[in-house]
Amino acid sequence: MPAVTITSYNPADPDDLVVAVEEPGAEAVRAAVGRARAAQGDWLAAGAAARSAALGRMADAVEAHAPELAALIVREVGKPQAEAAGEVARTAAIWRYYAQAPYAPSGAVHETAAGPGLLFTRRRPYGVAGLIAPWNFPLAIPGWKAAPALAVGNAVVLKPAPEATACALRLAELAASAGLPEDVFTVLPGGATEGAALVDTADVVSFTGSTGVGRAVVRAATERGVPVQAELGGLNAALVLPDADIEPAAGHLAAAIAGYAGQKCTATSRVIAVGAAYEPLREALVKALAAVDDTVCGPVINAGARDRLTGAVSSAVEAGAVVLAGGRVPDRAGWYVEPTLLTDVPAEHPLASEEFFGPIAVLHAAADLDEAIALANDTPHSLSTSVHTRSLDVALAAADRLDAGMVRVNAPSSGVDFHLPFGGTKGAGHGDREQGQAALDFYTVSRTVSVLPGGAA
Ligand code: UN1
Repeated sequence: MPAVTITSYNPADPDDLVVAVEEPGAEAVRAAVGRARAAQGDWLAAGAAARSAALGRMADAVEAHAPELAALIVREVGKPQAEAAGEVARTAAIWRYYAQAPYAPSGAVHETAAGPGLLFTRRRPYGVAGLIAPWNFPLAIPGWKAAPALAVGNAVVLKPAPEATACALRLAELAASAGLPEDVFTVLPGGATEGAALVDTADVVSFTGSTGVGRAVVRAATERGVPVQAELGGLNAALVLPDADIEPAAGHLAAAIAGYAGQKCTATSRVIAVGAAYEPLREALVKALAAVDDTVCGPVINAGARDRLTGAVSSAVEAGAVVLAGGRVPDRAGWYVEPTLLTDVPAEHPLASEEFFGPIAVLHAAADLDEAIALANDTPHSLSTSVHTRSLDVALAAADRLDAGMVRVNAPSSGVDFHLPFGGTKGAGHGDREQGQAALDFYTVSRTVSVLPGGAA
């Protein structure tokens, strides 16, 4: 069979080929997992200090190469410079945070029901963590999956999205320079074949990506009986109440809609204006989106994404939607889509019902908070919902009643604190949360140990 080549192009300059590598194939994945499994025992046995030091050196390596890494993110996945620099800083902070984890308690001591002895729990790694990462956070997501998995003593095999191959390969070089043994942290570029092979062989699986692929990953891992978490698409709402400070709310919304061209599972896709907020918000948001430039939005990942997004806008307009802002394809090289705000999109149109991963949002009106919450909850893709208000009562009601993995009051729906659990509800995610302590729990299983006296006490 002829070798399949993975290519990754610069979204702002489609003539710029960032990297081309041969697909390693399923057998190479199985071999890498085998080597990782063989190396994992020593990695665990090396102890907390060794693992902590290695993760700390990884944080240092990311920091030491920050400008170069940010430039690579900009070039390979088209992320605007400021966000790329922020992602690199976040990545270093993630490795540093998890560098402390090897020293944390890994269980609890319990009393025996009767008589002498010692009962305790102890969390143990599974073996090889198979990580499948998307292209949109090409360093942060591999970091927040790999660092906790490694901290607790797993080996890692990472398969990045093809569009982020160069970033992942650079991460592997940095890991080697930081003293992480190659077989303990392996990056294998690839596509669907390699991803499926990894899900078929790893001892624990973490996936971030599209809903369709994620469901297949969950099915395959569950069939094998290995733990799996999947972080899937969001169709996130932002609720704006009449008492909100409209200008800053519109600024947050514009950032959450158009920041990195809306290519985040946490991006805002639905704006729900409550009562009298509608008119002033519409005006402020149209203005805020018009002011968004390349330093905030940037291109979408490839020609297919641009065509899909512009096609969706045209078909929504044909179906009766009204364009309030943007909506045209800029006449320039690179895969750009204007930040776009629509209204009157029919409920059954994909732009109103499915994640679309672009700088586009739909504006809705709700008569009151109850209607706004019902509208926000009326989707299977509930990851992050923002609420913009000065009322504590509204904030508390939102925290109680919004069916989302994250509720963000007076903050954009995008943006994640790496030390807190992260994940969606309903169709937006499956399995345990990522990040924070939750990730350390996900990559370990609890063992219950009973130690009783060997002779008569
Ligand atoms: C963020 O909003 O900063 O794939 C992070 C994604 C999410 C990460 C969002 N898993 O877009």
